Amino acid sequence: MSFKVRPCRDLDEFGRAVFAIGQYFGMEPTEERMERFSKNLPIERMHAASENGTIIGGAGAFPFRLTVPGGVVSTAGVTVVGTFPTHRRRGVLKAMMRAQLDDVHARGEPLALLWASEDTIYGRYGYGMASQCADVKIPREHAAFAKPLEREGTLRIVDAEEALRLFPRVWDAVRRRTPGMLARTRNWWELRILFEPPGGGGEGGPKRFVVLERCGRPEGYAVYRHKPKWDEGVADSELQIVEAVALDGRPTAEIWRYLLDIDWAARITASLLPVDHPLWWLLAAPRTMRPRIGDGVWVRLVDVGAALSARGYAADGAVVFDITDDFCPWNSGRWRLARGRAKRTAAAAQLRLDVSALGCAYLGGFTFSELVRGGRVDELRRGAAARADAMFASERAPWCPEIF
Ligand SMILES: CC(C)(COP(=O)(O)OP(=O)(O)OC[C@H]1O[C@@H](n2cnc3c(N)ncnc32)[C@H](O)[C@@H]1OP(=O)(O)O)[C@@H](O)C(=O)NCCC(=O)NCCS
Repeated sequence: MSFKVRPCRDLDEFGRAVFAIGQYFGMEPTEERMERFSKNLPIERMHAASENGTIIGGAGAFPFRLTVPGGVVSTAGVTVVGTFPTHRRRGVLKAMMRAQLDDVHARGEPLALLWASEDTIYGRYGYGMASQCADVKIPREHAAFAKPLEREGTLRIVDAEEALRLFPRVWDAVRRRTPGMLARTRNWWELRILFEPPGGGGEGGPKRFVVLERCGRPEGYAVYRHKPKWDEGVADSELQIVEAVALDGRPTAEIWRYLLDIDWAARITASLLPVDHPLWWLLAAPRTMRPRIGDGVWVRLVDVGAALSARGYAADGAVVFDITDDFCPWNSGRWRLARGRAKRTAAAAQLRLDVSALGCAYLGGFTFSELVRGGRVDELRRGAAARADAMFASERAPWCPEIF
């Protein structure tokens, strides 16, 4: 190995390391752009691989606070991972994953989280698919609700400044009870969610912000793009929902009714929706959404004991796991989970699994029983999977509404 991996020291190194993936996207690492990006991704959380002074790869980790069932956990949000095409398949990614996971472990973050560009890359480093998400495309003519909705509340189009004041209140209320959602800093809102580069928007049109208020309180919001297009005099444009978040029940129905009714849209598209989204029940013809289900976020338990002890459990009981973790061997061995605490044990194992399979079940998005049926978990003691399922159950499917 003729290259070395270490954290970036300044904005110039940071930009060059981010460009390892940026160049695949056709992104130019301008100083202005990197300056903005580094406000959310601290420079020292970006690892760079270099050879003879040339940066050949990069991997970053946002310092996140992630909602998990019954708690919130410090989590490394793995991002901008890339190796220059000139140096691919020489072990650069592996070395960066090594340095990054050691760093995350040393910082005491029990979890790492990522979106995978390809589903065959990250399992070898202990990540498991922890959620699924749906992309939908709703034809305007099929946008009717199953039950009539008597409108309630006030909708207002707001500018970015007002959105910054109102949207986080809704986000935080929903985030607190939704596994997979991330706490957002002001910078995150300002520089990512509400941000639009000058003249931005391109094909989709500029971002629009709408808030739903009831009794003067924000209860829902949406960020969307709409650029009308006509085909032989007929509206043929797409209304792209960037993010629609609202409190349960009425506010969710109200915000979606608004989005589905906007004139001059032939289709309404949304992506990364949770698989248990209320739209399945709100729409009269949910099949016409043509949902495409894909993998959502991937979870890695960096410290198995701390991660298992940090979440809440839906049922009493105890289970003994025998965990294999080749990449982070400090996790390997038998762990007994009881009364919300995981401790090392000499007791007989009941479920045997790779740490990546534990990542699949951690947010409650998949059950141990389905992982047993899929060959990812061995049930050594009958009934152990069902018992663990009851303990790990989550009231709602994990939802991470944005790719970071
Ligand atoms: C994916 C990518 C980071 C791999 O980097 P790399 O330096 O070539 O990877 P390495 O040589 O360290 O390979 C490490 C291991 O991953 C495997 N691997 C690498 N790229 C892979 C891919 N695209 N699909 C499946 N496996 C892959 C290698 O075979 C190797 O496996 P092994 O250790 O079991 O033998 C690089 O090709 C890249 O930058 N791709 C475009 C951007 C991207 O997809 N980034 C990931 C964003 S989530």
